[in-house]
Amino acid sequence: MQSIRQQKTDKSEEALAFLNGLTSEIFDLADKQSGAQDLCDLRSLITLDDAELIHEAAMNSDAFIKEYNLLKLLGRNRFNTNGREWEIRRGLTQKFFSQAGRSSNRARVHRTYARRLEEIVDPDRPWSLFDALQTGAIDIFFKSLNVEMDMAGSRRLMSSFRSLSRYLQYFSWRPDRLENPAALEAAARQLDNNVRMIAEAAPGVTLLMSAFEEQVGDSIANFVGRHEFFMAFLAGIETTVSSLSWVAHELARRPALQEELANGLGSEKGDDRALAFAHETMRMRPPLPFVTRATSRQVDLGGMAIDPGHTIVFSIAGLHRKERYWTDPLRFWPDRPEFTEKTVNRKAFIPFFAGPRKCGGARLAMLEVEEATKVMLEQLRLEMPDRDPPFDYALTLRPTGWDDITMTRR
Ligand code: HEM
Repeated sequence: MQSIRQQKTDKSEEALAFLNGLTSEIFDLADKQSGAQDLCDLRSLITLDDAELIHEAAMNSDAFIKEYNLLKLLGRNRFNTNGREWEIRRGLTQKFFSQAGRSSNRARVHRTYARRLEEIVDPDRPWSLFDALQTGAIDIFFKSLNVEMDMAGSRRLMSSFRSLSRYLQYFSWRPDRLENPAALEAAARQLDNNVRMIAEAAPGVTLLMSAFEEQVGDSIANFVGRHEFFMAFLAGIETTVSSLSWVAHELARRPALQEELANGLGSEKGDDRALAFAHETMRMRPPLPFVTRATSRQVDLGGMAIDPGHTIVFSIAGLHRKERYWTDPLRFWPDRPEFTEKTVNRKAFIPFFAGPRKCGGARLAMLEVEEATKVMLEQLRLEMPDRDPPFDYALTLRPTGWDDITMTRR
């Protein structure tokens, strides 16, 4: 008989294999379909990669709703609710994220990453770059809400959430494999308890959660401020860190270009080239390669009638590699005209998705990715073999080739 530990390991490997397999399929489909059809079949789900169709559906967020059911084990929040409830929840945090994303904050974002990389990066330990980037993203997230929370505790929460989110996503795709729902619920409760302990030890966070509760009043039954806070924390940090990890890996694969970019910093053209590198990384390696929606009613999309309750996959990876919108789409080409001449079709470049349910922190995130790219170029020389790094998918797609990276300080 298998021990409990063995069963857990088996499920974890099963979830990892399934999700990494699914992501590879999304990318394979994107590469194969780059010139072809707009609607295709991924494991018999309708999968979209046409800019106009995605835009049309994204704008119609009443008909194409979010149904991230298992994520609700971590509570209801703006990420996983719809309609009027979502609008009220959005009103709690959006003003903070919009304010933080103003371009006047660019220099501050730059300084935050510069300081974290100076303090934390140890060239003998490539993973230390990941630690520095994550610490910077956490720092900026809390500054956007004008609060502070224990850094070590925040990092522990991120890492426990990532393991749990792998199961939540896996069982959302394969409910038939969920043999022990009570264990999953217990794991979610345990994480929520840890959030409670760490958040409640931070007076600013406690005040913020109470302010949320006061603002919501009776308009949402059983509202829990902590759940809103924690999902914003995850949404704001996990994605940013994944994007920055991809930038680090893609830079490391190209040491010669890295030198050119580093030497060019400081001039307008040079800075633009560094930003174009960041954008190209987000095109080829979107941290959320796809999002899903469920139809709330019968809808017509691109001449196809879709029944209520159907899951639709929006392939951001597919759209980002489609020949109709990109010159030489499968080539990693940071100097591509779409970015350097700023001719990009905005509906075809959607790392933050689109429509009302687009990322709430898109402007801030873009500032972070752009400025942290410059900071990496300013401070470090990165190198690794020029091949696709291994990756790990759990809520977001992250590269895991850190051990192959060598680093020196400039
Ligand atoms: C490069 C970094 C980021 C990327 C690529 C990204 C991408 C996304 C995407 C694709 C979604 C839609 C998810 C879905 O529909 O399932 C989303 C939602 C969201 N993101 Fe981001 N995000 C990033 C950073 C941030 C940051 C820094 C914040 C806040 C500080 C943030 C806050 C949110 C929120 C609140 C939502 C839910 C929006 C809603 O439904 O009202 N994100 N993000």
